[in-house]
Amino acid sequence: MNKAKRPAVIAGNWKMNMTPSQTTALINEMKPLVAGADCEVVLCVPYVDIPAAIEAAKGSNIKIGAENIHYKASGAYTGEISADMLKELGVEYVIIGHSERRQYFGETDQTVNLRSLAALNAGFKAIICVGETLEQRELGYTEALIKYQTKIALTNVTEEQLKNVIIAYEPVWAIGTGVTASDDQADEGNGFVRKAIAEMFGADVAETVTIQYGGSMNAKNCEGLLSKEHVDGGLIGGASLKAEDFSVIVKAASK
Ligand code: 13P
Repeated sequence: MNKAKRPAVIAGNWKMNMTPSQTTALINEMKPLVAGADCEVVLCVPYVDIPAAIEAAKGSNIKIGAENIHYKASGAYTGEISADMLKELGVEYVIIGHSERRQYFGETDQTVNLRSLAALNAGFKAIICVGETLEQRELGYTEALIKYQTKIALTNVTEEQLKNVIIAYEPVWAIGTGVTASDDQADEGNGFVRKAIAEMFGADVAETVTIQYGGSMNAKNCEGLLSKEHVDGGLIGGASLKAEDFSVIVKAASK
């Protein structure tokens, strides 16, 4: 077990939920519940909620992240948000390549790579998402797909920048469905990510990278998932909208 070599990170992904005032209330509720956690605690929130989230999280151990970032510095990209904009707000983390972005908003492995480079060049911690659909799994492409997505996302990322990379393995069939990957399936998927990183950067470096599991992780199943060798944390959707449930996951990762 090499878990000691890498920090455990529990990150909430609020997706398109919560208004700014709801953000303030939920973070105020969470703060005492996650205080003193022995893992990184991150909440990735909608862009418009970021100022409220940063304000509410001040003085606590909760770090704030965005749910995406554009790869251009500025320009005619209606609806997009740049690294400088997020920097000025005090954002520390950015989710990139979530399967919902790939599925509904035309993100490709190439744009995921560009966004990852933009985030890392700006000094953010990047949570890069990979994962197979049910169809890809049933066809037997899970390992190839996960490795391919991981390698393209990390193309031109330096070893130094890799220190700011977290990969989240999120099987698409387990997201928001209530169907969680088994502990072993999660460990296997995360292991494929680590293998891909090892092939690019070497096994020793790969051992230092935090790899999260995401997909219906909740207060009940988190303990088993987080006990697995390659599962160094979680990217949590639905359960990150409930203070009590989220704090149970944070506590499980702190053990
Ligand atoms: P759920 O936890 O709601 O399944 O969402 C997982 C996810 O997509 C986190 O990014």
